[in-house]
Amino acid sequence: MKEKLENIKQAALEKIAGAGTLEALDEIRVAYLGKKGELTSVLKSMKEVAPEDRPRVGQMVNEARALIEGKLEETRASLAKKAREEKLKAEVIDVTLPAKKNQVGHKHPNTIALEEVERIFVGMGYEVVEGPEVEYDYYNFEALNIPKGHPARDEQDTFYINDRILLRSQTSPVQVRIMEQGRLPIRAIAPGRVFRSDEVDATHSPSFHQIEGLVIDKNITFADLKGTLAEFARELFGEDTKVKFRPHHFPFTEPSAEVDVSCFKCHGKGCRFCKGSGWIEILGCGMVHPNVLRMSGIDPEEYSGFAFGIGLERIALLKYEIDDMRLLYENDIRFLKQF
Ligand code: DAH
Repeated sequence: MKEKLENIKQAALEKIAGAGTLEALDEIRVAYLGKKGELTSVLKSMKEVAPEDRPRVGQMVNEARALIEGKLEETRASLAKKAREEKLKAEVIDVTLPAKKNQVGHKHPNTIALEEVERIFVGMGYEVVEGPEVEYDYYNFEALNIPKGHPARDEQDTFYINDRILLRSQTSPVQVRIMEQGRLPIRAIAPGRVFRSDEVDATHSPSFHQIEGLVIDKNITFADLKGTLAEFARELFGEDTKVKFRPHHFPFTEPSAEVDVSCFKCHGKGCRFCKGSGWIEILGCGMVHPNVLRMSGIDPEEYSGFAFGIGLERIALLKYEIDDMRLLYENDIRFLKQF
């Protein structure tokens, strides 16, 4: 019996010494000290031992058990320490590495351009208002002197909800909505999204943005329009920017004009940017048509005014020298964060 115990003890100690992991150690513990363990089975076979020898054998078993337990604990502690050290080593932090930066996004070039335009007009005493993107045919066309069948409707084909409701093709309907409120004088800009049934290419999109402008007061003349837009162009593109008013036709203004600015790249000499002409078109404008005033309840004998419509994308593309409008809609942060 003594020999058997000695063998068990030696085998257990050897195995403990060779255990490389905490799991292996635990298996050894179960194999020797567990309910069905080898040492436990020795205790169970005590009845085969002569009664007078039992106390001595019992003591030997207990000593062996204590020794194995002690060794197990000792090895467990050192294995746990080793494991912790390895973990720490593996997770070591290099404090000299550059930190990971949080991507917080970036203002869209359209937003930057719009804020700039708003700043300029607010500085001239304009208020900033908004109108609906889903609009009545009446506001988008009819009240702007574009009755059913008018050829100007063809140029602004849009998306129809039904016969009377559409996605606005321009921000000009906001003019009508402001005038209808009956508060005069008016000095307002109305930025927003507009829609046309256009194919996507480098200069077209079925959805883009305009900034409408409207001034109504007594004695407003074309000179006021000219001075206002010249000042706007100088603030937006630089002090030495020149403006040119080219006669044009819009149904809701009379007279009407398109406005070009001298190319801010080549200062009028002609370059790739202005396609060699030295001028870049930036907006449409004119004196509000008497019919339009009348339809919105304003007496054209007493009041006059001017209006203008700026393409926001056009301003953003020009200002930031972007040559493809599609880039503005892809929302690639690598593109956006350059501005
Ligand atoms: N709504 C016009 C367009 O989309 C732009 C425009 C031209 C607006 C002249 C105006 C204006 O207010 O007076 O083509």
